[in-house]
Amino acid sequence: QRLDLDLEAIEKGGYEHFMLKEIFEQPQTIFDSFRGRLDAEQLRVTLSGLDSISDKLLKARRIIIVSCGTSWHAGLVAEYIIEELCRVNVEVEYASEFRYRNPIIDENDVILAISQSGETADTLVALETAKKQGATIFGIVNVVGSSIARLADAGVYTHAGPEIGVASTKAFTAQLVVLQLFALRLAQLKGTISDERFKTLIEGLAKVPEQVDWILKTQKATIRAIADKYRGSSDFLYLGRGYNFPIALEGALKLKEISYIHAEGYPAAEMKHGPIALVDETLPVVFIATQDPFYEKIVSNMQEIKARKGRLIAVVSEGDTQAAELAEDYIVVPQADEILAPLLSVIPLQLLSYYIGVERAVDVDKPRNLAKSVTVE
Ligand code: G6P
Repeated sequence: QRLDLDLEAIEKGGYEHFMLKEIFEQPQTIFDSFRGRLDAEQLRVTLSGLDSISDKLLKARRIIIVSCGTSWHAGLVAEYIIEELCRVNVEVEYASEFRYRNPIIDENDVILAISQSGETADTLVALETAKKQGATIFGIVNVVGSSIARLADAGVYTHAGPEIGVASTKAFTAQLVVLQLFALRLAQLKGTISDERFKTLIEGLAKVPEQVDWILKTQKATIRAIADKYRGSSDFLYLGRGYNFPIALEGALKLKEISYIHAEGYPAAEMKHGPIALVDETLPVVFIATQDPFYEKIVSNMQEIKARKGRLIAVVSEGDTQAAELAEDYIVVPQADEILAPLLSVIPLQLLSYYIGVERAVDVDKPRNLAKSVTVE
């Protein structure tokens, strides 16, 4: 017993929980997920798995992303990125829905399977079905040699290392990196990206580990104070637009999972069609309000919430004035290209839910009713 406890403490590397350790590992795991694949000097992205199915990808009418949970959120971000950079139609599916609705698939379809564990039952069966119908399966998986990795025709490992915390953190950011590399390489093969844009993005990606480190170091105390202030709330709303809309969903999911507080993520403009009815002086509303083409729109959404006395918390870019001024509390992230921004904006939301969970005495590494890998349907 005693030895087990000591071993666990060693594995946690001085952190109180695996989740906190995994959040703080992200500067390294993000680097590991592009190491050897991205050459910022030669302006090259190397993904041999992708190149091995390039004929299928180049003639695919569409790419279908199949996944569950946090991996599904990575898929949603990828939909925006791949459509923008590669000009190919992307559909994002919950594996559990896709497998049971008799989807129309043939040999012209490429399926991108995203899974940390590589063992999620719904994802696995959905892929088996699609494969039988002739689709090509491309796996983006963390666990080497897992069932989904073995089933895939080709793939890329995310290289995030073992993730112990039930709520996914570092595996998610590694998935985002691999999906960005996937989009960059495919865009290059298709000729849908200019050399200049390609250069900006790979140079930007190379800077992300340092930027994540900056967020963790400089914003930790602020995030902790925000967690302390709002930990008694019974509901949260998370809003974002564009590339940051799926990050609003992910922020809300993280909070639900490890604090047991009810939270909803929504596209910011869509709030007028429902969630705005929930807004009163007790409701914290977390906005992702970083500098991007949607910034002005987000600011006006914030004003609408403020007019109804909602409590605004914002994730803003360094140097921001408008959104930060409107918000009751704000967290700063470095400026980044809009395609890379989700990698930064998710970090404070992971940390916020971690601290709220800890304050509420939840077992954050093993929240009730949840499993790390859902191997039954
Ligand atoms: C479970 C985990 C989540 C994970 C999801 C999908 O719900 O608790 O963290 O995102 O399964 O798992 P996968 O291993 O397929 O990414």
